[in-house]
Amino acid sequence: VISAYDLLVAEGYLLPRTGARPVVADIAPRQRRAARQRATPPGEGDRRLASFWRNTQGLRETPRPGLPERCFRLGVPDYRHFPHALWRRLSARALRDFARKPFSYPPSEGIPELREAIAQHVAFARAVACVASDVIVTSGAVQAFDLLTRLLVTPGKTRVAVEEPGYPPLRAALLAAGAELVPVPVDDEGLRVDRLPEDVRVVCVTPSHQSPTGVALSLRRRMDLLEFARRHNAVILEDDYDGEFRFGARPLDALQTLDREQRVFYVGTFSKSLFPAIRKGFVVTPPWAREALATVKACTDSHCDAIGQSVLAAFIRDGHLARHVRHMRGIYAERRSALLEGIRSELGEWLEPIPSEAGMHLAARIRDPQLAPAVLKTVLAQCPGAQSTQDYAMKRLAHPAITFGYGVIDPPGIQSALGLVRLALLREYSSSTTSASRPSRVS
Ligand SMILES: Cc1ncc(COP(=O)(O)O)c(C=O)c1O
Repeated sequence: VISAYDLLVAEGYLLPRTGARPVVADIAPRQRRAARQRATPPGEGDRRLASFWRNTQGLRETPRPGLPERCFRLGVPDYRHFPHALWRRLSARALRDFARKPFSYPPSEGIPELREAIAQHVAFARAVACVASDVIVTSGAVQAFDLLTRLLVTPGKTRVAVEEPGYPPLRAALLAAGAELVPVPVDDEGLRVDRLPEDVRVVCVTPSHQSPTGVALSLRRRMDLLEFARRHNAVILEDDYDGEFRFGARPLDALQTLDREQRVFYVGTFSKSLFPAIRKGFVVTPPWAREALATVKACTDSHCDAIGQSVLAAFIRDGHLARHVRHMRGIYAERRSALLEGIRSELGEWLEPIPSEAGMHLAARIRDPQLAPAVLKTVLAQCPGAQSTQDYAMKRLAHPAITFGYGVIDPPGIQSALGLVRLALLREYSSSTTSASRPSRVS
C-alpha cells in the first residue's frame, strides 16, 4: 500500500501533506496544456525547433514499401552477384588486425590506406588527377553533399544551380545549408549551361549520367561549364555516382580531369559499385579547399569507422573492386540492352529512349504529351519501381519522362513487364496514339 501511494505521489497524481491525508492532485490543467501543445496547426511545426526544421515536408525520400525484389527500382545494385564470401574473409582479417592494436580515434578524413586506395582507383578508372591527401572519405555521397554545402554556401546569400530535374537529396542538403536554389533545365546534352544565371556561385551536375534522365553532359557543354566557372569565379560539384558502369565506346573525361583551374569538387560513392549499406563515399577536393573541407568534416563528424574502411581499402587495393565492376558492367549491359530493345520493340509507339551511355537506369520520354498521364499510369502499374522524372523536379516539367532502373531485374523480367505494358496500352489507348507528336528535348 505504501509503495502504491509512493508511486502515485512520484507521478504527480497525489499531493502528500505532512500530518494529513494526501489529496488527489488537480491534473486537468496539465491535460489541457498538453492538448493545446498537440494542437499546433499542421505545417507550422513546433516553435521550439529551429525555423528551417519546422516544416520537413519534401526533404526526405518517401519510402516506397511493397516493391518486389525484382523490379525497376532505381539505384540499387544486385546483391546476388556481390562476392559476399570474399567480403566476409576481408572483414574477418580486418577484425583480427583490429584486435592486435590499441584502441584509437581514427582521423576524420578517413584512414590513410583507404584515401590512398581511392586516389589510385579514381586515377585509374576515371582519370581523376589527385593524391591521397585530396581525398576525404564520407558516409556516402550524401554526407559529401552535406560537407560541401556547409563549405560553399553562405546561408541566405549563395545561389546554387541544380539540374532540373535533379537528385532531391542534394537539393535537401543545399536547402538545409541555407542556399538559394536555381533550377536549370536539362536537355539531350545535359545541363543547359547557357541558362546559368551569372550570379550562381556553385553549379551541381551529374555529368556522366544525369540523374534522373541518364544523358551525358556533352564535351562542348563540359568546356562551356568550366569556362562559366572561370569567368564567374564559381565552383562545380561533380556527382559521379554511377559512372563506373559505362557502355559507350569512349567515356567522356570527368569535369575534374578537364579542369585546369581547380574549380571542381569530385564526389564519388561505393553505393552503386558495391552496395548502399557500405555507406562509403568520398570527395576529391581541389588543394586550396583541402584544409577547410577536412575541418568541416572534423567539426561535424570528428572521427571515422576504421574497420569498414580497412575492409574497403583491401578490397580496392587487391583489385577486387575493378574486377567486380567489370563483372557487373557485363550484367548491366545485358539488362540495359534488353530494356532498350523492349522499349523500342514493344513500346516504340508510345516511348522514345533518351540517349545515355552509363549507369544503372535509363529514361524514355513519352512521345505524345497529351497521352503522358495515361501512359505513365499504365507503365508504372506494370513496372513497379519505375518513376516519373517529375518526381525529381522542383517545378512542373513540360515533358516528363519515365525512368527504369535495371540494377535488380533480369532480362526475362524486363521483357515480360514491357510485354504487359504493351498489352495494356493497346487495350486502352492505341487508337489515340496515331497522332503522336514527339517532344525533342527533356526540359
Ligand atoms: C544522383 C545520386 N547521387 C548520389 C547518390 C548516392 O548516394 P549515397 O552514396 O549517399 O548512397 C545517389 C543514390 O541513389 C544518386 O542517385
